[in-house]
Amino acid sequence: MPKISIAFVGLGGIASQAHLPAIKELGFNVDFCVDVDEYKVKSFVEKTGCKGYINYKEMLRNENPDVVLIATPNAFHATIAIDALKNGAHVYIEKPMATNSEEALKIVETTYSVDRFAVVGHNGRFDYRASTAAKLIHRGGIGKIYYARGFILRQRGIPPASTFIKKEFAKGGAVYDIASHAIDMLLYLSGYPKPVSIKGYTNRVFGDRLEEFGMNYPQPPQQGMVSEVEDFGSAYISFEDGIAMYVEVSWASYIKENRVEYTVLGNRGGIQIDNTGLSYMTSIEREFFIASPPTLPQVSTHREVWRRFLKAIENNDRALLCPITTVEQGAIDVAILTSIYESSLSGKEVKIDVPDKLIDCAKEQLKCLRL
Ligand SMILES: NC(=O)c1ccc[n+]([C@@H]2O[C@H](COP(=O)([O-])OP(=O)(O)OC[C@H]3O[C@@H](n4cnc5c(N)ncnc54)[C@H](O)[C@@H]3O)[C@@H](O)[C@H]2O)c1
Repeated sequence: MPKISIAFVGLGGIASQAHLPAIKELGFNVDFCVDVDEYKVKSFVEKTGCKGYINYKEMLRNENPDVVLIATPNAFHATIAIDALKNGAHVYIEKPMATNSEEALKIVETTYSVDRFAVVGHNGRFDYRASTAAKLIHRGGIGKIYYARGFILRQRGIPPASTFIKKEFAKGGAVYDIASHAIDMLLYLSGYPKPVSIKGYTNRVFGDRLEEFGMNYPQPPQQGMVSEVEDFGSAYISFEDGIAMYVEVSWASYIKENRVEYTVLGNRGGIQIDNTGLSYMTSIEREFFIASPPTLPQVSTHREVWRRFLKAIENNDRALLCPITTVEQGAIDVAILTSIYESSLSGKEVKIDVPDKLIDCAKEQLKCLRL
């Protein structure tokens, strides 16, 4: 089996702190690395021995890598992904895969025309609580789902970097950054019902107070830094078959503690994932089961995405991608995210138009969870 060559585009926090360790643990290295910041390229070259570039197009042209990771600011994900796919690479796109539905659908169409694999970085699916919950739910463990909700709430967590807080690069704030993860998780757990409408709300409340409300990622806030994007978002989403979901995210807020929580309710049981672990309630079997963190194996979620993605490429077997987020699933996420902004701006509930083909592919891909 010839060695798979890997290129990283965007050498910031997530590439160096999560993706690099993940592929190294799997016995791979970065062969080619690209960043518009020459200093970042230099230090990545020193750290990994990769061949460095400041222009991704030049790297693609010269090196024809087998795999490209896109870990740049959101605004550039789609263009780089499409160029990399057209150049013959399989792509791993950080979330959100695009910042509008046209771009997202273009990525989906491009993967069909070039017959390459493309996945989206919603690594949270590989948290052991989430993967256990997904298996329970998809094997019928809570019956028919009617409601789900997700919260990712931080007290002081505005990321003080242009990538996240400048409109030009991020296109949006907490909604693109963390509601994208929350919606992916709820759709993954509930099996991709078709969204029909949404009432969204976003607000920029603490953008001028980064010294108080900024986090330390990737470094502490610099004096005078300002966030141009929203730090709060919520949405009530209606789906076909009478299903509804609620999502709430904040980068900063006056709350008692940080909170990450997902609840999925069915007519035969319920699942809750939170900081204490995974709870599974079912009155039908007269069982009450709670698994808490000490009993749950710790999984490196980024490594797990890479392990499966590289295995699918090595075996040329799309089925092995399950349950990594596919581009069809990522495009549904983007349709919902952009509708949150649209609804917030207009103050009205808006319709969501997701092609049936995306929903069918999204459902089909999760069949592995039933085995
Ligand atoms: N899956 C996750 O849990 C997770 C966590 C953090 C970030 N992310 C996503 O990863 C992406 C990057 O986040 P980060 O925290 O690494 O940000 P970062 O600011 O630390 O890094 C981004 C890097 O991209 C570089 N860059 C900008 N434009 C470029 C271009 N055209 N070509 C090449 N490089 C370019 C920047 O110079 C910077 O070094 C974001 O889209 C973010 O949403 C995902």
